[in-house]
Amino acid sequence: NRTEKEWMIKAHSLSAKLFHHVLLERAEAEPARKYLENRGIRLETIKEFQIGYAPASWDFLTSFLQKRNFPLELLEQAGLITQGKTSNYYDRFRDRIMFPILDSQSQVVAFGGRLLGEGVPKYLNSPESLIFRKSRLLYNFQRSRTTIRNEQTTVLFEGYVDVISAWQAGVTNTIATMGTSLSEEQTRLIRRNSEKVILCYDGDQAGIDAITRAADLLEKQGCIIKIAALPDGLDPDDYIRKFGSEAFQKKVNHESKSFVAFRIEALRRGRNLLDDGERMRYIGEALAVISKLTTAVERDHYLRQLAEEFSLSLDALKQEQYRLYRAEK
Ligand code: CTP
Ligand code: MN
Ligand code: MN
Ligand code: MN
Ligand code: MN
Repeated sequence: NRTEKEWMIKAHSLSAKLFHHVLLERAEAEPARKYLENRGIRLETIKEFQIGYAPASWDFLTSFLQKRNFPLELLEQAGLITQGKTSNYYDRFRDRIMFPILDSQSQVVAFGGRLLGEGVPKYLNSPESLIFRKSRLLYNFQRSRTTIRNEQTTVLFEGYVDVISAWQAGVTNTIATMGTSLSEEQTRLIRRNSEKVILCYDGDQAGIDAITRAADLLEKQGCIIKIAALPDGLDPDDYIRKFGSEAFQKKVNHESKSFVAFRIEALRRGRNLLDDGERMRYIGEALAVISKLTTAVERDHYLRQLAEEFSLSLDALKQEQYRLYRAEK
């Protein structure tokens, strides 16, 4: 006699197996196989992450699970099927690449489904349910946890394709949030397993904003933050495909910078520092960031850097910092 949760988990595990089988074996999945091949996702990786394909059908999964006596209302609550206006049920995921999402006990509790081409929504995720709480779960954590603990370092991404791509590139201490911003619960989970966190978000404005938010939260938990900043417009998966695995490993493990350096750099974006007014505003804002550093050694380091870059005396910068500090009071 299964509990509701057990039914839901069983349904997900069967669905994952079915979608995976369809992807590897069925003729109708040829475009899906081609899609993954074009993205450079290898067969070995498809198997490791149990990637699948949900056919372009309204009742493929519904009838498969119905035949196995799963109560339809339960499947609906679990987010595998949807109820239409005329109260008939149909498959939630159709014609999508399916990424199973596993909990810490390695049970499939949700899916992320991606369209093969353009379209909206690009990703369709399972809704929250009895077995799937987005803010408690981190994609790939069940697989990477041991490595993360051993290395005391976590690489955090925005998307699951980034995790999968990094895994192929030999970077395995990785996790990702799933389309939501990092929750406090997730930061606690991370901190319990590793001290250092390398944020490797997409190289766009959304990514930059998300880094600042995530880094603040993680710092509150006592994590040491590093930022692996990617070139404009590239996400980790794009970067790996463009520059290769070794370049990516180097970027993450040896070229990540401190949160402060990242923030100071972010202030430069879209600014013409040859313009006197803009340069002064930039220096003022950079000084404000530096002022908030806790140790004098760090403050001194970044002040010197700023002084050097704009050929200013350290004294002048310190006076300016003091003036700004007074003005704030
Ligand atoms: N996401 C989502 N719904 C969307 C877009 C994104 O849930 N409509 C989530 C997904 O978990 C995705 C992550 O946010 O992995 C990052 O979004 P994005 O950068 O757009 O996705 P990519 O992983 O880069 O997608 P792809 O490379 O497949 O285009
Ligand atoms: Mn993005
Ligand atoms: Mn992305
Ligand atoms: Mn993209
Ligand atoms: Mn991408």
